[in-house]
Amino acid sequence: MTTTPTGFVFVAGLADIRAAGCLAVQVGGHTVALCMDGDAVHAVDNRCPHMGFPLHRGTVRDGILTCHWHHARFDLATGGTFDQFADDVPSFPVEVRGDEVWVDISPRGDARAHARRRLAVGLERDLPLVIAKAALALTDGDQPPVDPFRVGLAFGVRYRRRGWGQGLTIHTCMANLLPHLDPAERPRALYHGLAAVAADTEGAPPRFPLDPLPNAPRDPALLRRWFRQFIEVRDAEGAERCLVSALAAGTTPRQVADTLFAAATDHRYIDGGHTLDFTNKALEALDLAGWEHAPAVLGSLSAGYADAFRMEEANAWRHPVDLVDLLAAAFERLPGAMEAGQVHGNGNTATEGELVEVLLGEDPAAIVATLVDALRSGAGAEDLAATVAYAAARRIAQFPESNEFTDWDTALHTFTFASAVHQGLRRAPSIELLRGVFDAAMSVYLDRFLNVPPARLPGSGGGEAGGTGDPNALLAPLPDLFNQQHRVAQAADAVARFLQDGGEPDRLLAMLGRLLLREDRNFHTIQAIEAAFRQYGTRRGTVEGSHILIAAARYLAAHAPTMRAQRQTYEIARRFARGEPLFEAEGG
Ligand code: FES
Repeated sequence: MTTTPTGFVFVAGLADIRAAGCLAVQVGGHTVALCMDGDAVHAVDNRCPHMGFPLHRGTVRDGILTCHWHHARFDLATGGTFDQFADDVPSFPVEVRGDEVWVDISPRGDARAHARRRLAVGLERDLPLVIAKAALALTDGDQPPVDPFRVGLAFGVRYRRRGWGQGLTIHTCMANLLPHLDPAERPRALYHGLAAVAADTEGAPPRFPLDPLPNAPRDPALLRRWFRQFIEVRDAEGAERCLVSALAAGTTPRQVADTLFAAATDHRYIDGGHTLDFTNKALEALDLAGWEHAPAVLGSLSAGYADAFRMEEANAWRHPVDLVDLLAAAFERLPGAMEAGQVHGNGNTATEGELVEVLLGEDPAAIVATLVDALRSGAGAEDLAATVAYAAARRIAQFPESNEFTDWDTALHTFTFASAVHQGLRRAPSIELLRGVFDAAMSVYLDRFLNVPPARLPGSGGGEAGGTGDPNALLAPLPDLFNQQHRVAQAADAVARFLQDGGEPDRLLAMLGRLLLREDRNFHTIQAIEAAFRQYGTRRGTVEGSHILIAAARYLAAHAPTMRAQRQTYEIARRFARGEPLFEAEGG
């Protein structure tokens, strides 16, 4: 290869290019397409930036190079594309020296900046393959991909008038799952989250955020009161202005969380728990992206609060037992119970096992009374929340497959809500949010029919093996198990045996995460796994912890296999990034 100090190298004779029309040549480890357009020679990278089809096999007409695989078109002179699902193809300077053609293939541009621009295109046009390529390019080793996470967060809150929704919740769940995943799986998780944001905003009108109230900052306590009043009368705009004004007035993250949690529990179990779960996720997103994004992110919650369905309007919460009245009476007693527990708590709280038996029982009055008594005896709100979350997980762990399939979601909603209440109390404990523990307990009670008859809980008898062999070998069959429908019990047994045999929980979490990511995105399944990992985090090595992971595995097994179309998209992007020839390969 002959080079010049400027980077130009000899690549081909002019006559050869003219004869071929488009000629592929190897230059410095790259394949370059040399194409004639009239008397001019142009050089572009020979890999179509969409999926790698060799561009020298395309057609040039009127200065436009068309790739024949999906018909992406490129301006031959600049490499710019007319089809955003592809990408601009790198083009190279050409010099014709007599009958010789010389090309400069020196690298140009900032690859990371380019990936960032392409991520924006993918989000704007809902192009999953473009997003997958960007996710792969923007994930650096073990570093949390904060930058692309922020991009997705800002896009999601800006381009969905209804505000925070499933897409951003998935985006945050995926970010939370990252530390549990094998490093190779992390770009895939980022891709799932970003693609969920794109799908959730696709075709939606944008949201126009509100400014704070003008002039002097208002008293945060007053703004907090107004916020709750405005949510009470379903005034989303008024509430948002209070919220952003409170942030402008210097309200701390904990104070703003407290305000949100109070409003989210002023009515019973609003929107089946989604509102509180979304709030929790929005706060977690800010922890990751930075609280300077709080006005846009938290402001996007207000419509969800104002429009939420309130269980005061739900028959199941009013008849035959009026759970709303029952809870209202209990809430009157909460301040006294809390004070008594803190001042005179005798420590004679029921054991967690006893509490769980009551929670999974059939007497709502007994459930409420037991929770109040536990507080009076000195039990902490956070501990009670964890216990209710565990009881909710048990509903899933013992969910029989004879139920209506959609009822998995009923049990899931209770669990994710209970987990969100628990996480919320860890972040910003308050007597208002404590009401959420009681709401979750009532939802566990209402879900009792989902455990009739209860599915066998591995480890509670039934003949499964345990205590022998290499626990890691027990994980090996899981991927194949999840290739088949109705392997719920087998999945539960495998998880239980792995943990009983001393398997390393982190390996199990990574495996469940991998199995989640190979399925098509399902909002509820993602919620189930993420909440289970959260709850397991405070119960590592315990029987209750194993029940929580059994619940996660059962839920995932019940919802697998899917078509795995999103996996295929990601695999294409991954192989493209590695330079593998996609057009010659068998299916993914
Ligand atoms: S358009 Fe070229 S590979 Fe798809």
